[in-house]
Amino acid sequence: MAEPIRITKVPIPRPKPKDSELGFGQIFTDHMFVANFQEEKGWYDPRVEPYAPIPLDPAAAVLHYAQAVFDGLKAFRGVDGKIRLFRPQKHVERLNLSAQRLCIPPLDPELSLASLVTLVGLERDWVPRKVGTSLYIRPTIIASEAFLGVRPAKSYIYFVILSPVGAYYPEGMAPVKIKVEDRYVRASEGGLGGAKTGGNYAASLLASEEAKHGGYTQVLWLDGVHRKYLDEVGTMNFMVKIGNEIITPPLSGTILAGVTRDSSLALMRQWGLTVSERQVSIDEVVGAHRAGTLAEAWGTGTAAVISPVGELTYRGDRMAINGGRVGPVTQRLYDTIVGIQYGQAPDPHGWTVEV
Ligand code: COI
Repeated sequence: MAEPIRITKVPIPRPKPKDSELGFGQIFTDHMFVANFQEEKGWYDPRVEPYAPIPLDPAAAVLHYAQAVFDGLKAFRGVDGKIRLFRPQKHVERLNLSAQRLCIPPLDPELSLASLVTLVGLERDWVPRKVGTSLYIRPTIIASEAFLGVRPAKSYIYFVILSPVGAYYPEGMAPVKIKVEDRYVRASEGGLGGAKTGGNYAASLLASEEAKHGGYTQVLWLDGVHRKYLDEVGTMNFMVKIGNEIITPPLSGTILAGVTRDSSLALMRQWGLTVSERQVSIDEVVGAHRAGTLAEAWGTGTAAVISPVGELTYRGDRMAINGGRVGPVTQRLYDTIVGIQYGQAPDPHGWTVEV
């Protein structure tokens, strides 16, 4: 029998922000979920407590060797007033896959799901109302053992924090300009690219800062061996429509198994579109642009849902996509996924879980 979740509430809940003032990840709710792990006890003491700094020994393994994983999902307040999580089981599963790659002990999926449902249920007043806003959920596991030898830690902290959010990119659904990055690399096969772990994001910062200074919103990563095959776009999975074929790179180890990626593939297959999970080279994209068949490109991710790409720049050559406008498949995916998330459309795949 699973240990019950202890709940300690704040004496006075804080005032909630206005929906119109929400950015991404700046405001946190009144409570957080916490559980601990010790080698001899397993995961124990699951609890909800007031949101507060976490005491950590300066020798904690996470601070030195980055043994940590996280995930990100959202709760939506539907047009019918119900609160829904989008595919939480898939996120819980992915958190454990990331954990396995980082030698972090797995969580009982029932406990992680209960942690999300319990915490969001308690903080339901923090779920914003406006379509386009949501409550972002950040489950995280860190290695807390105070030990400077390099090996998997023997103690961990699992926590979940919540943040009411608006659009991830200030551009929203407006097409963005992307620089094709042929110098820095985000991940290579056999590495950490397939895991949601902080190191991947740290590895991306320099390229992304340089791109921003050059007037781009993000970079399109190429593979680490040949600097040839498309990988991810910024922190999102990438999809491109060339002629009638929609292509996304396969999950070969460098690419995060995105939940929005998976949802988009399922929808497009259901719509009868031609969808390929295969390697696509930047030369193929350049060739398609020259031939006039580069129809659409977009990123998929939890934070921004669908992010249209209006222009790609590769080695100084600019390629406008669909005249810099949002393409029809991009728009249809956005509308369909958002429709399901906010309870505006039926959910035939059973992707949402009511809280
Ligand atoms: C996403 O949800 O698209 C991300 O990976 C971004 C997140 C790290 C803020």
